[in-house]
Amino acid sequence: MKDKFILDACCGSRMFWFQKNQPNTIFQDIREYDRGFIDNRPNRELHPDKSGDFRAMDFPDKSFKLVVFDPSHLIGKPDGCRMTKTYGSLNAETWQSDIKKGFDECWRVLDDYGILIFKWGNHDIKIKTILEVIRKEPLFGHRTRNTKKQGTHWFCFMKIPSKSEQSQQISTTIKSSMISDCIEKTNAMEKQK
Ligand SMILES: C[S@@+](CC[C@H](N)C(=O)[O-])C[C@H]1O[C@@H](n2cnc3c(N)ncnc32)[C@H](O)[C@@H]1O
Repeated sequence: MKDKFILDACCGSRMFWFQKNQPNTIFQDIREYDRGFIDNRPNRELHPDKSGDFRAMDFPDKSFKLVVFDPSHLIGKPDGCRMTKTYGSLNAETWQSDIKKGFDECWRVLDDYGILIFKWGNHDIKIKTILEVIRKEPLFGHRTRNTKKQGTHWFCFMKIPSKSEQSQQISTTIKSSMISDCIEKTNAMEKQK
């Protein structure tokens, strides 16, 4: 098994990571900043392992068992303010298609039965709206009926293959195990000769 099976598609300063250099993870972001880029957080830096755009990633399909997607969720904040420096910001014209492309790319690089964790802060864009934008239903996550309640929301998705894909995978597994059985038996017979 290859050793990088987790992707953080837009890691920022890895603030939510307990294991900030988790060895099985690729930390990606489109921005890069040296220590001190935020005036009141002198130790904070933003150095991804890989500089990349979540809207068009160059990983092959089904590369990761776990993908975490925590894109910028702020819109219309001034460029140089602390919040924008910390979290980046959405483009007012294109944010819907940017987030949809990012989510679809995360889904593409996720392996079958893999898990996608999506985090969203509903300060500027409501949860209902963002779920409509990504057009996929989470398995579970934060549910709030109070639309005024602001905060961080986590959602869990799993890439469960369709029934026909599942049965195709099962028949492929059965076929390959029958072939290896056959090879083993032939080898054993050859040895007995
Ligand atoms: C909410 S912050 C991530 C915070 C991070 N999870 C943490 O724990 O510190 C969102 C990040 O998405 C990055 N980002 C925005 N657009 C991106 C894109 N198209 N491709 C990759 N990263 C992007 C921003 O640079 C920003 O660092």
